[in-house]
Amino acid sequence: MAKILAIESSCDETAVAITDDGKLLANVVATQIAVHEKFGGVMPEIASRLHLENITVCLQQALDESKIRLEDLDAIAVTRGPGLIGCLHVGLQAAKTLAMVYDKPLIPVHHLAGHIYANEYIGTLKFPLLCVVVSGGNTELVYMKGHMDFEIIGQTKDDAVGECFDKVARVLGLPYPGGLPIDQHAKLGKHTYNLPHPNAGDGKYDFSYSGLKTAVINLANSLKMKGEAINVDDMARSFQDVAIGMVVDNAMKAAKDYHVVQIVLAGGVSANSYLREQMKRRVEGTGIDLVVPPLWCTTDNAAMIAKVAEHLYERKYFAPLSLGVDPNWKIDEQLTLLK
Ligand code: KG4
Repeated sequence: MAKILAIESSCDETAVAITDDGKLLANVVATQIAVHEKFGGVMPEIASRLHLENITVCLQQALDESKIRLEDLDAIAVTRGPGLIGCLHVGLQAAKTLAMVYDKPLIPVHHLAGHIYANEYIGTLKFPLLCVVVSGGNTELVYMKGHMDFEIIGQTKDDAVGECFDKVARVLGLPYPGGLPIDQHAKLGKHTYNLPHPNAGDGKYDFSYSGLKTAVINLANSLKMKGEAINVDDMARSFQDVAIGMVVDNAMKAAKDYHVVQIVLAGGVSANSYLREQMKRRVEGTGIDLVVPPLWCTTDNAAMIAKVAEHLYERKYFAPLSLGVDPNWKIDEQLTLLK
């Protein structure tokens, strides 16, 4: 194990964490949500500029809290992708500068691997396992035979589930990000609206969310034209049942087919209370262990990047300073980057 400083800046959170032998000494997160809220989504250019303003402040705070000096670190880890290109550049440039000035190895980390390994702060990963990675930008089922061995066995063909929650929330007049408001309104509503259960096509465990999103938009528009008000609670419930139902059904199907011993939830949408409840209910009596991340692990942070980096440090998986970001980096390429 080692002293690792990790940087995350892939979307709208600037984050710096420091770990020492796996122990989290500092976990600083500067969120930009309040700025992007008024636009109803993340404005990439504004996000990059705010990362530039925040990164050194977060770095200084993490160093102060951890009482670790830059010269005493063993490695600098950073999210290399996926994410918004301008945002990723800020984190990588900061990491490369530290690596160069202090002569430390640079460890490139996949953002979603971070979300998966965040669960190591609360338990042990047991293989073979299935990761249900659900966020604002991704919807993937990832099969793992061992550490750092990622195989994507199902994914969305169009929109991500979190993106769909955010768009539907907007149609319903709920604030951004829309996941939590929909989750809360759904608890008050009934499943009264008939929405399609989109078929993602050939892939056995694939997803599709654009048809569901369009169905909600069309229904809202036609009710508006008739002068009828949409029942927000009932629509939130009807939509959530279908959107999360697809995740649960595909995850359980894959878990059984692949004979996994553990299912791990990861990403922003894994905060959803209905998803948590349904997954707990469906694994009962199957012998499959379910790992549900604490809420702080479901939002973006650098502690999760440091967790992945600990494994990569042991493998001496160090990148040259010529490394660039990859906004579309696939999780199954995490280990192949430096072959
Ligand atoms: O992991 P994350 O920050 O996204 C990316 O890195 O892309 O997760 C943000 C997403 C947003 O779409 C947000 O609406 C959703 O997670 N989210 C939820 C809940 N809390 C956050 N979706 C459903 N239910 C929730 N309780």
